[in-house]
Amino acid sequence: MRPLSPALGAEIVGVDLRDAIGDALAKAMLDAWHQHLVILLRGQQLTEDDQVRFAERFGPPAKIHTKQFVRSHPAVMLISNVRENGQPIGALPDGEMQFHTDQCHQEIPAKASMLYAIEVPSVGGNTLFANAYLAYEMLPADIKRRVDGRKALNAYDYDTAATIRKADVPAGAPCYAHPVVRTHPATGRKALYVNRLMTRRIEGLDPQESEELLTLLFDHQEQPQFIYEHVWRPGDILMWDNRCTLHARTDFSAGERRLMRRVTILGEKPV
Ligand code: SIN
Repeated sequence: MRPLSPALGAEIVGVDLRDAIGDALAKAMLDAWHQHLVILLRGQQLTEDDQVRFAERFGPPAKIHTKQFVRSHPAVMLISNVRENGQPIGALPDGEMQFHTDQCHQEIPAKASMLYAIEVPSVGGNTLFANAYLAYEMLPADIKRRVDGRKALNAYDYDTAATIRKADVPAGAPCYAHPVVRTHPATGRKALYVNRLMTRRIEGLDPQESEELLTLLFDHQEQPQFIYEHVWRPGDILMWDNRCTLHARTDFSAGERRLMRRVTILGEKPV
C-alpha cells in the first residue's frame, strides 16, 4: 500500500483484479478504503464483468437508469466525451466539473463510485478528491455549531453545465435534503456533506444567510490541504467513498478522447 497524498488516498500494489479475490484480501482492501477514502490500483486490464465482480466485494452495484450509456453489463455506465453519430456514448462528457458527491439529490445516494480508465487525454481531465472528514474537523467551532443538526437541499440539474451552481431548484429537478454533517456508518467519523455543484440551500435559514454560509463552507472544503488530484493513466481503477469525499474534474481538450467505465455501489440514507 502506498499513500497517494497527505489529504487522502492509497494505491494498492501487487493485485491483479482478473484473479479471484479471497476474503482476507477483500477485507484488507475494505479497511484500506475506510482509512484512506480513495483506493487506486494501476495497470489493470479489466472486462466489464471483472470490474463488476470487484465492485461486488464492497456491496451491491446500482442498476443504471440512463440506458443509452450502458454497453453490456447493466451496472456499468460509460463516462465519456467520445461521440458516435454526433451523440456522446457516455454521461458527463465534456470538460470541467465543480465539486459534488454522487447522487446526493437522492434519498439513498451511492456509497461508492468506481472509475476504470480506458482512454485519457494527454493533459487535464484529472479528478480531484477532497477529504470531507478533515473539512468538518477543521471548521471553526462557531461554524460547527451553526451547521450541526441542519439539513441542506441538494438538486440535480447539471446535464451539461457542471460548472454553474444555481441557488434555486428548477421545477421538476430531482432533489433531496440531507444532513449538512453526516456520520459515516463504518468509521463513526463526521463529514461535511455539502457541495458547490448540487447543494442549493440550508433549510431553516433565510436565503441570504444560507448562501453566505454555504459559500464559506464550499471555500473551506475546497482548500488544497484537503485535496488529492488524480492524474489518470489507462488501466487505473479507482474507488472513492461518497460519504466522506467530494470530487471535481479539471478541464480537458474536446479534441482528445476520454473514456471511463463507472460502477456505483448502493449506499444508505445519510444520518
Ligand atoms: C464523476 O463526477 O462521477 C465523473 C468524474 C470524472 O469524470 O473524472
